[in-house]
Amino acid sequence: MGDRTGANTGPRAVSDRLVFFVNGRKIVEENADPEMTLLSYLRRKLGLTGTKLGCAEGGCGACTVMLSRYEQHTNQLLHLSVNACLAPLCSLHLVAVTTVEGIGSVARKLHPVQERIAKSHGSQCGFCTPGIVMSMYALLRTNSSPCMADVEEAFQGNLCRCTGYRPILEGYKTLTVDGGCCGRRDNGCCLTNGSTAGDDCDQEATPLFDTAEFVPLDPTQEVIFPPELMILSKGQTPRMLCFRGDRTTWLQPASLDEFLHLKWKHPEARIVVGNTEVGIEVKFKNMVYPVVLAPTFIPELNSVTHVEDGILFGAAVSLSHMGAVLKQAVQTLPPHQTEVFLAVLEQLRWFAGQQIRNVAAVGGNIMTASPISDLNPVFMAAGCRLSVRDKEGRRELHMDHTFFSGYRKTALRPQEVLVSVHIPYSKKHQFVSAFKQSPRREDDISIVTAAMSVSFVPNTSVVDELRLSYGGMAATTLLAHKTASRLLGRSWGEELLQEACSSLAEELVLEPSVPGGMVSYRCTLTLSLFYKFYLSVLQKLRLQGVEVEKVPPNCVSATEVYRHVTPSSTQIYQAVPDNQREDDVVGRPIMHLSAMKQATGEALYCDDIPLYENELYLSLITSSKAHATIVCVDASEAEQCPGVVCCLFATDVPGSNATGTIEYDETVFAHEQVTCVGHVIGAVVADTQLHAQRASRAVKIQYKEQQPIVTIQEAIAAKSFYQPIRTIQRGDLEAGFEQADHVLEGEMHIGGQEHFYLETNVTLAVPREDGEMELFVSTQAPSKTQSLVAKVLGVPENRILVRVKRMGGGFGGKESRTTMLSTVVAVAANKLKRPVRCMLDRDEDMLITGGRHPFYGKYKVGFMSSGKLVALDVSYYSNAGNSLDLSLSVMERALFHMENSYSIPNIRGQGFVCRTNLPSNTAFRGFGGPQGMMVAESWITDVAQNLNLPAYQVRELNLYVEGDSTPYNQILDQFTLKRCWTECLTRSRYNQRQSAVEEFNRKNRWSKRGLAIVPTKFGISFTALFLNQAGALVHIYTDGSVLLTHGGTEMGQGLHTKMVQVASRVLGVSSSKIYVSETSTNTVPNTSPTAASASSDLNGAAVQNACEQLWERLQPYRKRNPTGRWEDWVKAAYFDRVSLSANGFYKTPDLGYDFETNSGRVFHYFSYGVACSEVEIDCLTGAHTNLSSTIVMDVGHSLNPALDIGQVEGAFTQGLGLFTLEELHYSPQGVLLSRGPGSYKIPAFGDIPSELTVSLLRDAPNHKAIFASKAVGEPPLFLASSIFFAIKDAISAARAESALIGPFRLDSPASAERIRNACSDQFTKLCPPAEKGTFTPWSVQV
Ligand SMILES: Cc1cc2nc3c(=O)[nH]c(=O)nc-3n(C[C@H](O)[C@H](O)[C@H](O)COP(=O)(O)OP(=O)(O)OC[C@H]3O[C@@H](n4cnc5c(N)ncnc54)[C@H](O)[C@@H]3O)c2cc1C
Ligand code: FES
Ligand code: FES
Repeated sequence: MGDRTGANTGPRAVSDRLVFFVNGRKIVEENADPEMTLLSYLRRKLGLTGTKLGCAEGGCGACTVMLSRYEQHTNQLLHLSVNACLAPLCSLHLVAVTTVEGIGSVARKLHPVQERIAKSHGSQCGFCTPGIVMSMYALLRTNSSPCMADVEEAFQGNLCRCTGYRPILEGYKTLTVDGGCCGRRDNGCCLTNGSTAGDDCDQEATPLFDTAEFVPLDPTQEVIFPPELMILSKGQTPRMLCFRGDRTTWLQPASLDEFLHLKWKHPEARIVVGNTEVGIEVKFKNMVYPVVLAPTFIPELNSVTHVEDGILFGAAVSLSHMGAVLKQAVQTLPPHQTEVFLAVLEQLRWFAGQQIRNVAAVGGNIMTASPISDLNPVFMAAGCRLSVRDKEGRRELHMDHTFFSGYRKTALRPQEVLVSVHIPYSKKHQFVSAFKQSPRREDDISIVTAAMSVSFVPNTSVVDELRLSYGGMAATTLLAHKTASRLLGRSWGEELLQEACSSLAEELVLEPSVPGGMVSYRCTLTLSLFYKFYLSVLQKLRLQGVEVEKVPPNCVSATEVYRHVTPSSTQIYQAVPDNQREDDVVGRPIMHLSAMKQATGEALYCDDIPLYENELYLSLITSSKAHATIVCVDASEAEQCPGVVCCLFATDVPGSNATGTIEYDETVFAHEQVTCVGHVIGAVVADTQLHAQRASRAVKIQYKEQQPIVTIQEAIAAKSFYQPIRTIQRGDLEAGFEQADHVLEGEMHIGGQEHFYLETNVTLAVPREDGEMELFVSTQAPSKTQSLVAKVLGVPENRILVRVKRMGGGFGGKESRTTMLSTVVAVAANKLKRPVRCMLDRDEDMLITGGRHPFYGKYKVGFMSSGKLVALDVSYYSNAGNSLDLSLSVMERALFHMENSYSIPNIRGQGFVCRTNLPSNTAFRGFGGPQGMMVAESWITDVAQNLNLPAYQVRELNLYVEGDSTPYNQILDQFTLKRCWTECLTRSRYNQRQSAVEEFNRKNRWSKRGLAIVPTKFGISFTALFLNQAGALVHIYTDGSVLLTHGGTEMGQGLHTKMVQVASRVLGVSSSKIYVSETSTNTVPNTSPTAASASSDLNGAAVQNACEQLWERLQPYRKRNPTGRWEDWVKAAYFDRVSLSANGFYKTPDLGYDFETNSGRVFHYFSYGVACSEVEIDCLTGAHTNLSSTIVMDVGHSLNPALDIGQVEGAFTQGLGLFTLEELHYSPQGVLLSRGPGSYKIPAFGDIPSELTVSLLRDAPNHKAIFASKAVGEPPLFLASSIFFAIKDAISAARAESALIGPFRLDSPASAERIRNACSDQFTKLCPPAEKGTFTPWSVQV
């Protein structure tokens, strides 16, 4: 029996009916497509769009759903959170799927997990929210009284880019057994130390939500497992399933025999269990597997058997099941038998996220044979045995140096399958440890991963057997057997350590250009990790009474495994005055108005709009070269692909192909030259996304390559700069340097940052009559989109309507670069006269849309012996990429922030915007300000280190005071920075902390703590004068309901909520009567992008203006009927023929700066803040822990403290990512190598400070903005640099141990690699870097 894919199922009876349930509804799918994921099925076939697509690679959790299954052999119901983006539809036979829509809705009733995330302000843009809701829901279904550690574990696979996680944890804490605790640990938990709840809480802490409002969780009310499914599951007799698709056949055999038979027939068949590896290969590596074998039904592969000397795990056993079994064993067996199990559990702790562990199989991890597998080193070190079979028999393989035969190759023959893995008990006198070092602790792949096992001659320290296994050091997991054999028979002591290190350094070498880079770091890690093992074994031997050296007390911390502390937090804000009217919501912490809908999945994002009947999908054709002439484009093969309607190129543009944000220096479609990888050359339009994407890969392009300019240093060498080169100068620089007691020079590089909004760029264009086109776009700039689409189509702007309901995050990334996609989609819709949609895949989005500008700063600073600054000469170079976009304004803002908050009499800053062959970089929260200030904080740290003064003292000494003026001659009035500084010092207990840090550092050689307090002063206004304007349109309908529209867009920041608060106060009407439906270009025209933190100020004033007009118009009716209701006055005015619609407008007064004369006002006002952070670094691995951050932020009179604290925490966390975690890797040829959550790490739940205090400065009205408030979106981001400088402080302490004193360069981000390399010691010395210029590195600092 053959088929299109050639799969032969043999003679057995087969079923091709896939039966499963979704939210209680039975689905029988007769044509299940083996290549379809559950996510596509839910969103496209069932219209359940609450489950989101964020990455398609299991890395963000936006697609989390719960799968429930009845397990016959254990008679148990299993509830598992899984990633719908990786779950094959065909794997769902007899499974119940629960999506966010299935557990509650705004119309029906919210489930407590939905309600609590919304009311605790844990949903901003909301795109991550359904996934987080479902992770929590699945946890509660398996454990109705979890503790916070369980919650944190459940969230390891979920990302949020907006909230900073704190409110989510806070909200869900109320569902845990830790629920009522205040969380502060200074005096112990108030619930356990005997004091009354709240006694230990900060007396000023102000709640942001009221737990009394929460609906209680009642586990008895949960949706039940479908009874019919239970009957089906219990009554099933195993029967092979077979589903055939265009390119793949899915075979799910019913027995081991059948399985072996099929594998014999189809040796090339892919075995799929969790699909967490194969799914990635199919989606991102374009692999096609004609036959897929799923061993779900086969008992031998799914069972766990306890045998005499260990445990046998079926190859298809999931990692979470394996973890549970091992945990149980650890609790019951004698400790000496469980060393291997503990090592496996240690690796599982940091293995992916819960959703992956719930489905990924142990056999899948072994058989993938990844060189950075986390389990294989343990299996090798422990000497695990594998049982493998084919149709003709079975054999046992040892996981030794012969098992992995090459990159992703094993000793199994093609017809063989792995049946089980035997994990042995450890023996007396055997010690095992496992280590994993990755850029981010949670859900990340390893840089180096290792496991080590040593056995001793009984009751001695003589090594009897030693296995050192490493991943990340070669094309396979390897055993360092040369070193191991050298150490046999030796005594476990200092000499052995020395020999082991020099031998490992010799044995484990990497080529300088090895993929993954970080060569010295990886080599150093192999030694550092061995050293950790060495120390822990010393400890264990002593515990057994064996005579060995004692671990010196200052080294003990090097043996500790990571101890996680559940974060605790305090929020402080000023409550509204007692006499404020109850229904006046300004200043109150009201919830984001869409939060409930976001938590139930009912909030609609662009790609949630149902498909139009004749809709088409578009896929971009982009350049694979950074700099080249296009020789020829051949789309003939693509045009023949299934479903393709047409291919589009520059010749299809009806209007102008020239486009751009400030200057028209870009093209919609490149036609002669490409100037970056990802440059849009054309597009394919087809009936489905899959067809469009497949066809776009079939387009062949020939290039004639030219040498690209990739890095800032290359641009400097080639003098490749955009003009003008900006300078701000004040005072007499020469005299300043002459007067200085000391002059220092230094430099710093600050890496770029990917926006990583959870919702990627998306446009849906719908052509109408007369050249009209309606576009639904996820953009911060509807008007810019409108004008550029009009330009490319050659129609007046009045034909183009751009509508924005909400975005799943923006952060500046959807300010200008969105038009790259919108213009192309508009060209397609115009040409075909059919609706066309495109939502970029995550990897495409990351590749082509640019991000935060990398900066290089070079400085010379003059200062007195007291630390007082007298002169600064600083040059900034930004990597702008292949078009100007907003780069000049970004550089200008960097210059406007070059002195951060410090007074410097003689100063010059120059800004060079480098033209390179990277995709154009663009706006990103802070817009150059953070980079400008980062360099400032670098030189002030140098000054302090040079003078050996405490850094906080030098900072304080140089802080501006009221009435000072900036280098651009703006007088600082309403200067609240000093207040923030003092409050932060007090709240953080800075002096006590400092002493404790010093004490800690004295006592610990390999762990160091650091402390830093950093101020920020952030200018508010667009630096382009004309953008400082806004409009609003307010309608009152005859039933009294108000429709509010303004120029700003909603991307999670709560702008619409704040605007409703403003309108409610001005109109004197309850906020429940006011509705914001969307932002659109036909209601408020010519709007500025929602950016520069100024949207509440600008739009708020415009809304106020419109509402005041309406209030005036209603005034006569109020007077006439003072006891009447709002509706009465509205009706009366209507019948009196009064217009109940008003336009509002606002422009910021008194702005206008001139670079030529260094005069005129740049900013309307400044937002101020200060943060103090404490960190601990592991000097041996470079890992760091954020212990505490205290933030004091001046937001004026907050319009909404919940939203403002949300902005502070969200920005701070994004800054934490920028300065300590997020690294974009580019090849020397300009190819972005990090293109998804797998390789690009934004902060996760586990990265936030263990103690976080946010205080909004009291009594600080700002008379320059709406209701005395201040802008808040961007200013707090820079405060996260306090973590960077705390890390630098800790590194200084580590360097001091090696007698390295004084300033040193530390580039941003302070990644584990940089931290480790900077902590120079005996291990780093054994792994020197290769000489620059002698090799081609894997990646370059751009
Ligand atoms: C987001 C994410 C995070 C991850 N994090 C980590 C991590 O931290 N550490 C880590 O080590 N890995 C990680 N991985 C990799 C992956 O999860 C593991 O390798 C996983 O164990 C694979 O199991 P699976 O069941 O999903 O494999 P599948 O994708 O179903 O199959 C993987 C491969 O194994 C083969 N195979 C499976 N079973 C058998 C068998 N019985 N006999 C023969 N061949 C078989 C298949 O043919 C296939 O080639 C991650 C993956 C993702 C997507
Ligand atoms: S979309 Fe599935 S994990 Fe990101
Ligand atoms: S609210 Fe989490 S990504 Fe926006």
